[in-house]
Amino acid sequence: MEDFTAVILAAGEGTRMKSDTPKVLHKVCGQPILTYIIQAARKAGAQKIVVVVGKGADKVKEHYAGEDIEFVLQREQKGTGHALMQAEDAVKGSSQIVVLCGDMPLVTAESIEGMVRFHQEQRAACTVMTAIVEDPTGYGRIIKKGEKVLDIREHKDATLEEREIKEINSGFYCFDTSLVFSALSKVKNDNVQGEYYLTDVVKILNQEGKQVVAFQLDDPNELQGINDRKQLAQVQKLMQRKIIEGWMEKGVTFINPDTCVVDRHVQIGRDTTIYPGVILEGNTQIGEGCTIIGPCRIKDTIIGDFCEIVMSQIDDCQLDENVKVGPYSNLRPGCKLSSNVKVGDFVELKNTKVGEGTKIPHLSYVGDAILGKKINIGAGVIFVNYDGYKKHQTVVEDEAFIGCNSNLVAPVTVKAGSFVAAGSTITKEVPKDSLAIARARQENKLGWVLKRRNKIEGGTKDNGK
Ligand code: UD1
Ligand code: CA
Repeated sequence: MEDFTAVILAAGEGTRMKSDTPKVLHKVCGQPILTYIIQAARKAGAQKIVVVVGKGADKVKEHYAGEDIEFVLQREQKGTGHALMQAEDAVKGSSQIVVLCGDMPLVTAESIEGMVRFHQEQRAACTVMTAIVEDPTGYGRIIKKGEKVLDIREHKDATLEEREIKEINSGFYCFDTSLVFSALSKVKNDNVQGEYYLTDVVKILNQEGKQVVAFQLDDPNELQGINDRKQLAQVQKLMQRKIIEGWMEKGVTFINPDTCVVDRHVQIGRDTTIYPGVILEGNTQIGEGCTIIGPCRIKDTIIGDFCEIVMSQIDDCQLDENVKVGPYSNLRPGCKLSSNVKVGDFVELKNTKVGEGTKIPHLSYVGDAILGKKINIGAGVIFVNYDGYKKHQTVVEDEAFIGCNSNLVAPVTVKAGSFVAAGSTITKEVPKDSLAIARARQENKLGWVLKRRNKIEGGTKDNGK
């Protein structure tokens, strides 16, 4: 296949999104719309990527800073033809260009590559990617004679008869570079929208005796564009379905896929089962044979094999094999849980390392701590890590036992094998293999209640009369 440059038109205002974010930076399955098109163009073999930007240009450029993409600015949005004209200098040196719209993220690399191959086989001046759709309202209609494309008529400019045509213009094309720019110089803006239509080059090329053909896609879903939030949701749904079906093909079970969110870069191992209401975001990786029960949100987290996560939130953590979390726990950034750790219900963990086989089964807060192996943290234990100014670290060594409802006031260390009695507030180091009790001693006053009652009631008890 001959080299080509991809020109992505992304300068449109995106007014209907009603947003401060440029339309092409809105996310679908965790990734900006424009990134999908850039990736598809690269995968299809584009040697160079040129993006035409307008509204929100700075934000778009900033997002892709450092990437091998050339940006050209279209100061005023005077139509798709005018947009492509701005890229003339940037595409010098490639004899073919592929024009793509920045708001159609479902198009596949295979379709783009297919169009380029077809263009070359047909020795065409222009190939238009098209599809047959049930409801062509709003799209440009393909006007054909046999296999030849004679013209493209915008919906707003079309006659009632032309509006019956169901073959629509995708807005994706392959062009012979020199021919398209010479044709563009002849395009006028004498249409309903007062814009310079790129689609008008089709008619001009025909007048010059050049060949324009259509490359028809089987799946019109690929051409679903995003102009407003409703279409954003429709595309999200189609993309989500595609991603989840990809994981099903690789051996992952989804009990009810329509209720799950799985971002584009998430990885899931085989024989893992995902229950309804699970959200997997960012660069999350789930191992093999895991069970994830929703509602659950897991973000930028690496989870080993055979883990069980139930109704919890985990953000930016790492879990080794056989770890159990939940129900109802919150693992905040910076936690590393070794294999066979159990974090039970209503536990909050932050910036904490937990050694193999350690258990934190109920109602605890553990922050800024290093926990060794096979420790038991009793119910309601609080790691007091903050003095109002600074965070401090707590170290609990292997096989220590921390009794229920204790406070460990950081910085403090509990040495290996030691035992903290329930209800203690620990403020200094607990030596190895020792018992620490730091609570008031219990005193029993025998018969105290009886004496008090006699005094107040004079020996008779008022039963609430
Ligand atoms: C365009 C096509 C139409 C096709 C439809 C497919 C024209 C005249 N019409 O219509 O035949 O069916 O796409 O979606 O081309 N853009 C700029 N600068 C501008 C105007 C637009 O960069 O001045 C960009 C937009 O950001 C967008 C793309 O070009 O990515 C298409 O623009 P849009 O206004 O959505 O075109 P449509 O009117 O939908
Ligand atoms: Ca338009």
